[in-house]
Amino acid sequence: MSKQENVSIAPAEGKLGIMTVGCGAVATTFIAGVEAIKRGLGLPIGSLTQLATIRLGKRTEGRSPRIKDFVPLAGLEDLVFAGWDIFEDDAYEAAKNAGVLENSLLDNLKEPLTAFKPMKGVFDQDYVKRLHGTHIKEGRSKMEKAEMVMQDIEDFRKSSGASRLVIIWCGSTEVFHKPVAIHQTLADFECGLQKNDPDIAPSQIYAYAALKMGVPFANGAPNLTLEAPALLELARERQVPICGKDFKTGQTFMKTLIAPGLKARMLGLTGWFSTNILGNRDGEVLDDPGSFKTKEETKLSVLDQILQPNLYPELYKNFHHCVRINYYPPRGDAKEGWDNIDIFGWLGYPMQIKIDFLCRDSILAAPVALDLVLFLDLAQRAGMKGIQEWLSFYFKAPMTAPGLYPEHDIFIQLMKLKNTLRWMRGEDLITHLGLEYYD
Ligand SMILES: NC(=O)c1ccc[n+]([C@@H]2O[C@H](COP(=O)([O-])OP(=O)(O)OC[C@H]3O[C@@H](n4cnc5c(N)ncnc54)[C@H](O)[C@@H]3O)[C@@H](O)[C@H]2O)c1
Repeated sequence: MSKQENVSIAPAEGKLGIMTVGCGAVATTFIAGVEAIKRGLGLPIGSLTQLATIRLGKRTEGRSPRIKDFVPLAGLEDLVFAGWDIFEDDAYEAAKNAGVLENSLLDNLKEPLTAFKPMKGVFDQDYVKRLHGTHIKEGRSKMEKAEMVMQDIEDFRKSSGASRLVIIWCGSTEVFHKPVAIHQTLADFECGLQKNDPDIAPSQIYAYAALKMGVPFANGAPNLTLEAPALLELARERQVPICGKDFKTGQTFMKTLIAPGLKARMLGLTGWFSTNILGNRDGEVLDDPGSFKTKEETKLSVLDQILQPNLYPELYKNFHHCVRINYYPPRGDAKEGWDNIDIFGWLGYPMQIKIDFLCRDSILAAPVALDLVLFLDLAQRAGMKGIQEWLSFYFKAPMTAPGLYPEHDIFIQLMKLKNTLRWMRGEDLITHLGLEYYD
């Protein structure tokens, strides 16, 4: 079946409240960017929801509306922002400290940015070793802190007059953790919150609070947050869409562009060495081995899944894959990522590809954050709940149904995203078969 007639999508009426956990480089670049675009001071480059078109029907029909005209998305003028951080700086100060956007632009946006004063965060030093927050909620138990977050959500809903909310984690990467018994059922998880179980991360406290309040949640960092079966259960029970994890931006974005191309041409790989320098707060946090391990896990998984060494042992068996991140303060947010890719072709003759990507991390992440909040809001209005795999396009480690491997190939991810939008609107899915043109 290629058509779906019955998805009814509630209109995007009223304001959409966006709550960011973390008011650092990504969050402030996203918020300041939206405010700049609203004022005609810049263009939403990198955002599919704002710029991309979607082909409908046959190639001969000439129907290619913009995505934002095809599905009912919240308009940028209807977005209002709030959030949390473990430091008190308002978004203007935080954006200046992040050093991504020019001061002259930030000065033009001083009014909306100073109005964003982060609420106190839920923090646990064991989860982010390098930060020493000063703007932190005090509570006797993790459950009490979750209730405080729920109160913050409710207060923002009322004060902003927003008709709908979305929460996005733009907080620091937490140390590597695996799901344990406490994460398995909602009852156990809630018991753990009451008992201050050390295996419940701050990010999970926010996620729990969001889901309890029926608010969609996206995880932009690699930490274990929504993957706990208890939280998946809660998302389904409350009919809330969720997605994660880890924004796909610099080097992994490049990897998921190039690896599918090598595989498409059946070219082999003996090794892929990736190294980065970056000097922002994210880089400082990732300098801690526990936080780096979380990042490394998501970065490493990509190539194995795309190249499928089990299906193509003569091309991809045992390739070496190393990822390094080096904290180097002089660069700030202007990261540089190098890739050395050792490949082989016809008769096994070796070749090399070198990439030197002088990227700006948060400039790449901001449109991703924008698209995610707009699409999660759309999903909720369309009655879609639980993991939104069609948003894999935006993530380094896309969440999938348990037991299903994630799709990392960016072109498959894009097709999936667009076909989901077509399906929502009852349009034919596009298979690229195209035999009808030759009948
Ligand atoms: N392109 C990118 O920049 C990119 C790509 C993929 C993933 N990420 C991830 O996105 C996240 C944000 O990146 P960034 O560059 O903005 O980092 P950042 O360090 O500039 O900002 C993170 C902010 O989160 C705050 N924070 C930490 N723990 C918190 C808590 N428990 N509650 C509330 N606030 C908390 C910090 O104080 C900081 O202000 C990081 O986890 C990063 O790994 C970023």
